[in-house]
Amino acid sequence: QTSRIFQLAFKMTATLTNGSQSHSVEETGLFSADLISPAIAAQLPGTYTLRALRKSDYARCFLDCLRVLTVVGDITEEQWDQRYEWMNGQGRGGYYLLVIDDGERIVGTGALIVERKFIHNLGLVGHIEDIAVAKDQQGKKLGLKLIQALDFIAEKVGCYKTILDCSEANEGFYVKCGFKRAGLEMAHYY
Ligand code: ACO
Repeated sequence: QTSRIFQLAFKMTATLTNGSQSHSVEETGLFSADLISPAIAAQLPGTYTLRALRKSDYARCFLDCLRVLTVVGDITEEQWDQRYEWMNGQGRGGYYLLVIDDGERIVGTGALIVERKFIHNLGLVGHIEDIAVAKDQQGKKLGLKLIQALDFIAEKVGCYKTILDCSEANEGFYVKCGFKRAGLEMAHYY
């Protein structure tokens, strides 16, 4: 009887511990706040914050923000949770999804995907992907801040370079962000 009570107590403690762990991971988001540049965060307007993507951002219009970029599809919260959990588990250390939150919703986002190579002495290459600023927030330098913040992360995690693909129409934006044309993009769709 004593051992059953002990087992039950242990099980409850484990549940509570797991519960609080998942809570703190959700608060932290996909990556550590140490990777957020304080200098760039300080340049944002008053109520705006720059932070890692959190699971709870489904309810803060993250996908609507991405819709200014391309087709997103009808993603259910369950599908969102699964993808988030993958990025936060197997994908941890490879996916740095950054958001700008205006206090009510996500108004900007960008991703840094870190590729681990054998060449260049096991070099790391950053890939900038899926940059989007809400239509009514464009032209306020939020895009520039996102790129600078992703560059900061790339350097901090040890990337030797960061590359991206964009349309001709956006070339000027990336030039303003310090990038230069290099190479040629090719694609094979499936
Ligand atoms: N062409 C040339 N210059 C531009 C462009 C452009 N398309 N967009 C912005 N700029 C300039 C601005 O005028 C500004 O210049 P300034 O410093 O001389 O004033 C500078 O770039 C910084 O502009 P921001 O205000 O930071 O730009 P914004 O916040 O509007 O973000 C972005 C730009 C991300 C392209 C936004 O317009 C957007 O979300 N567009 C739709 C989605 C999209 O095309 N995303 C990029 C896809 S490519 C990728 O994801 C790798």
